[in-house]
Amino acid sequence: MMDWTDRHCRYFMRLLSPGALLYTEMITAAAIHHGDAEQLLRYDRSEHPLALQLGGSDPAMMAEAARRAAAAGYDEVNINVGCPSDRVQSGQFGACLMARPAIVAECFRAMQAEIDVPVTVKTRIGIDDNDSDEFLARFVDVLSAAGCGKFIVHARIAILDGLSPKQNRSVPPLNYERVFRLKEQNPELEVVLNGGLSNIEQVEMVLGHVDGVMIGRQAYHHPYFLAELEQHFNSRWQMPQRRSVVEQMIPYIEAELRKGERLGRITRHMVGLFAGMPGARAWRRYISENAYRDGAGVEVIREAVDAMPVAA
Ligand SMILES: Cc1cc2nc3c(=O)[nH]c(=O)nc-3n(C[C@H](O)[C@H](O)[C@H](O)COP(=O)(O)O)c2cc1C
Repeated sequence: MMDWTDRHCRYFMRLLSPGALLYTEMITAAAIHHGDAEQLLRYDRSEHPLALQLGGSDPAMMAEAARRAAAAGYDEVNINVGCPSDRVQSGQFGACLMARPAIVAECFRAMQAEIDVPVTVKTRIGIDDNDSDEFLARFVDVLSAAGCGKFIVHARIAILDGLSPKQNRSVPPLNYERVFRLKEQNPELEVVLNGGLSNIEQVEMVLGHVDGVMIGRQAYHHPYFLAELEQHFNSRWQMPQRRSVVEQMIPYIEAELRKGERLGRITRHMVGLFAGMPGARAWRRYISENAYRDGAGVEVIREAVDAMPVAA
């Protein structure tokens, strides 16, 4: 999730869910081409299995970015056909590409020809007035004919004119049924549903219809939800206490601080760890107020833990 997640976030999430497939925020193929690709593609080995999400619509540039991603060891490369922001539309990629499946298919072919790991597509169920099963089916048909076998579908349309990206994640209603029908009509495809999932019962219900779920905001705001999910589906896993997750972060944080990272850049992802527990507010507040001070080190996290009641 752009502006929210990064490699520090994924390191933390991985401690909470050994089994989840983690996705990067969208990185544009142009940024990889023109910018510091090594820095953009950097990650910790523990983040595997890990997918890189790319934004773009230029087949040659997308292919180059995919090649670099595969060389860097990513396990999947995903094409963003879901982002509605203006910046993205002016670059002719993101959700507006749903109306141009041939371009996405051309990118897909160019990318998959370069790499062995799967290239996948994340899309919406429609855009603007194109809010029908047929529109989604046509998009998916063109991509699956090109060889794409996995689709992550954010189960609401994107309104490209008039709604902000934030509104586009809540205003258009969720329509899980359309995604279920997509799977029903394409049993050979791997269909992953995304959008509005926030509890285990919902996830169970959805998994009765499709192959997987992708969780965004709930995982970010309530990261321990990932641990609960992992435990639910993998009962042999020993679910760590929240405090022990904090302890496990400390060596990583120390190593990153030595490399010049600022504490707050890492702890910002951890503020929701105790959400819903006694002391959650004290934790969040202590971290937020102290982690950005010059020279702040891991003592801030220890003090934040100490500021909470023992039960948390
Ligand atoms: C701050 C923010 C940034 C996002 N950035 C991306 C992104 O880079 N790529 C993407 O595919 N989706 C992005 N999304 C959308 C989410 O991946 C997801 O599709 C959407 O939030 C619905 O799922 P959820 O209800 O589980 O959060 C972003 C969402 C948020 C809140």
